[in-house]
Formats: sequence, C-alpha cells, structure tokens
Amino acid sequence: MSTLRVPFFRPDVGGLERDEIVAALESGWLTTGPRVRRFEQSFASAVGGSHAVAVNSGTAALHLAVEALGLKAGDAVLVPSMTFAATAEVVRYLGAIPILVDCDPETLLLDLADAEKKLVDLRAGRLPAAIPRTARVVGVIPVHVGGLLLDPSLTRAWARRRGLWVVEDAAHAFPSAWRLAPNAPWQFCGAGTSDVACFSFYANKTITTGEGGMAVTEDSALAARMRTMSLHGLSQDAWERYSGKGSWDYQIVAPGFKYNLTDIAAAIGLHQLERAEEMRLAREAVARRYHGAFSSIDEIDLPPDPPNRIHSWHLYPIRLRLDRLSIDRNAFVEELKSAGVGCSVHWRPLHRHPYYEQTFGWRPADLPVSTEVWTRLVSLPIFPGMREDEVRHVIETMEELCIRHSKPSTMSLRASR
Ligand SMILES: Cc1ncc(COP(=O)(O)O)c(C=O)c1O
Repeated sequence: MSTLRVPFFRPDVGGLERDEIVAALESGWLTTGPRVRRFEQSFASAVGGSHAVAVNSGTAALHLAVEALGLKAGDAVLVPSMTFAATAEVVRYLGAIPILVDCDPETLLLDLADAEKKLVDLRAGRLPAAIPRTARVVGVIPVHVGGLLLDPSLTRAWARRRGLWVVEDAAHAFPSAWRLAPNAPWQFCGAGTSDVACFSFYANKTITTGEGGMAVTEDSALAARMRTMSLHGLSQDAWERYSGKGSWDYQIVAPGFKYNLTDIAAAIGLHQLERAEEMRLAREAVARRYHGAFSSIDEIDLPPDPPNRIHSWHLYPIRLRLDRLSIDRNAFVEELKSAGVGCSVHWRPLHRHPYYEQTFGWRPADLPVSTEVWTRLVSLPIFPGMREDEVRHVIETMEELCIRHSKPSTMSLRASR
C-alpha cells in the first residue's frame, strides 16, 4: 500500500510573492496603501468590473455589500442552505432574516424554483413560525459553489422582476465566467453580473492573500459606501491623509467597521492575480483527469462541467451513490483519510446546524434536496502544483474504495460490463 499522503490543499505561493512582501515591508508603509490600490485596480480589470474595494475577508465583503444595499433589521434575504457560514451570518449581523433555499441536486447551486416557492410559502405562512410572514424580502445571495457560476442573467432577471437586489457570494468564483451561447463573449463573475460580487482570498481559495476579500460593483455609490464603511466610516483613509494628496483631517460619517486590507497582504495578492489563470488551468487539468478516470465508476456522481462556463475548479465535489455502496459518507471519508487522501465536505447545509435549526425552526423537509445530497458529498484534493503521483494516488484510492465497498448487486453489474 502506498505511503503517499496527498493534502486536501497546498497553497501555491512563491518567490514573486515573497519579494513583494519584502518590498512592502521595506517601503515603510504596511497598512492600506499603494499596493492595495494597485491590487484593486488590477482585480477590477481582471474581471472586467468597474469598482473594486479590497477588504480583509470575503465575509467582510459580503457584510459591506448588504449594508451598502440598505439591509435592515427585520428584512429577509434568500440564502442557499448549501453554503458556508458567512453567507447567512452577514444577514444576521444586520438583524435581518435569512430565508433558506434548496439547491439543485447536481450542481449544488441555489434552485430559483425553490426560491420562488419560498416566497409563496412565506406569504402563505408555511415557513417556520419564527419567520414573520410579513417580513420584507429585499435580496438574494447566490453562491457559486466550487466556482461553477449560477446563470447570472437568469438570476438577475428573476430578482429584478421581484424587486430584489443580488449579491453574489463569489468566494470560489475567481476566475469564473459564463456566456449565453458558444459564440457569445465570456462574461466574468464581477463584470456587472450582480449588484455586488464578493470574492474571498482566504488561504485555500483560488488566489490568496492569507486572509482577504474583494467587493466588486458597477455602482459608484455602493463602492463609495463600502469603502467608507470598510474603515470606521472615515471620510478618508490614512494613505490619503499622509501620502501628500489629502489633509490630515477626517470626519466620521457613519459607525463603520475595521475591514481594510494591508499592503503586506496585497503584496501577495498582486502576484497571485498575475498567475490566476495559470493556476486555474492547472486545477482544470486535475478536474479533467478525475473526470476521465471516474466516469466509469458507478458508485459516484461527478460534478457537472456544463458548456458555456469557465469553471474556477476551486472544489471537486463528488456525490457518492449510497445505494451502490455498503458504507456511508463518513466512513468513506475516514477510509480516504487513512489511505492518505485529504478530503473535506462542502457543506453540512445551514439548516442542519443548531443555530439555524433552533433560532428559526428550519426542518429537514423544508430543504429536502440539501438534506439528502449533503450526506453523499465528498470534496477531493484539487490544487495547482498537484503532482502526477498525487493525482494518480487519489484516482487509485477512489477506484479501490469503490470496488471494495460496492454492494454485491453493483459488483455483478460491473462484472457483466
Ligand atoms: C461560500 C463561501 N462564502 C464566504 C466565505 C468567507 O470567506 P472568508 O473566509 O474570506 O471570509 C467562504 C470561505 O470559505 C466560502 O466558502
């Protein structure tokens, strides 16, 4: 048995990032300054967006976006249950109510038909009793799970008809794009695909600054509000005050937050950004290898790779066919780990967490698809710099586990093929 251990993720940072960090340290300006401004401009032009505001996490970007859009206590926002904590918690920061929406069983993306149903159920008093049927629904936060874009034109049109804003949780979606048809131009997430697109540069994301995020919008007023609120609600930041362009004075115009990104972090981001497509192609190559090898394994369903998408391949989430396996997902994950394959699960849906169960009374039957599919989810390692022996080890381990734990009826099908 191989002794190779494949991590779930290994960051790809190198000499360019290191040299730029040293240059930032030696410049004498460590906090938000010229490198952050350059990072914002380069990121905006990489996605084709107008205004980019750099912050110290993807969560901060989401919080600033919903605040700038005027989210208030008692309002409600449609949020997928199949997501990370941050997507819904920012709604709670402002005292608003996340209305959880189910996902598509294959893409794991927010199901607009269920979003529609949740709006009807709200007015009919069929949602959990803790959600007042009179709550004003103001927006929707789709999540591009793993970097696969939920069709932005459909989502925007659907939201616009109902008077809702759209904030994209694009934590996984750089660089990700879509197009209407094979000969239509690509549109990247952030190029006016919503009111605000919020990216994450957390350590294991597609590009990293250690911790960091970016809010991108076409709306200059939203950008200005997010920028002000990202630094205590001050009328101008320290770089503006001390770089010779501005006055020493500032005014507090709102009780803002401390969400600004440092120049040290931006130093990493600038070079990650330059290599973003090269790193995406490396992940895509791993995804293609997995697709090729796994398409003949009957015990798993593969992540969809639809045409008219550039997929960031932040994640490679497979769905186990539990009807064809003699072990459950948790046992499968344990076996992967003991065979040296790092893996994860994205995610236990929000309605299966105590806070959302107990605060709002969400029941498994309210979100049947997420309730079922999450018990089958496993995310396999996918990162740039993954070596050939590592990819092969993941593939061979998956093949071996699926054969070893295949139900007898499936085995006979396999033998007769
Ligand atoms: C879908 C999703 N949204 C938001 C976030 C939050 O990003 P950050 O960790 O940069 O705050 C994450 C991070 O893992 C995420 O996966």
